[in-house]
Amino acid sequence: MSDNTLASRLYPTRIDLPAAARVQIVVILNQTLAATLDLKTQTKQAHWNVKGTDFFQLHELFDELAGELEEYVDMVAERVTALGGYALGTARAAASNSILPEYPFDILDGKEHVTALADRFAPYAKHIREAINKTNELGDADTADLYTEISRTIDKRLWFLEAHLQVSEIKGDNGTAGATTKTPQKAGIR
Ligand SMILES: [Fe+2]
Repeated sequence: MSDNTLASRLYPTRIDLPAAARVQIVVILNQTLAATLDLKTQTKQAHWNVKGTDFFQLHELFDELAGELEEYVDMVAERVTALGGYALGTARAAASNSILPEYPFDILDGKEHVTALADRFAPYAKHIREAINKTNELGDADTADLYTEISRTIDKRLWFLEAHLQVSEIKGDNGTAGATTKTPQKAGIR
């Protein structure tokens, strides 16, 4: 059976949401499951491999983020099964279905890892926000609420990551006020 067929497979259930809507919701949730598993393992990759003067605080922060993502993996997978669906939660399924790019294996210091994670938390946040609207439109307020809960925390975590980067993005690459080689607009800051 292909991943697409598995991702939309439904078991008999007494739940009152129509099957036509549940098929679509389960597909969206399985996309989220893949992306969440992928982001969790990438965040652990950063936790293990970060180096530099900020090692300890980043090592701890990345572990906290990975722990939250692990909770979302379980919440999302169990929403799939509550809707009568089949959860696709293996490492191989995550790798083939994730919307995220692979983590760079050639980076070293804290800022590079924070940037790599911010570059992945941002599209993940976008996917989650889009899923709030899609599942609302499909008449599933509970799944939309689950997505809203995840969205609020992921936005906050993107802030935590970007707060490490914004000073140098505003002031220039070396983070000093005198080195304003980029205007805030050029650096994408409004
Ligand atoms: Fe650890």
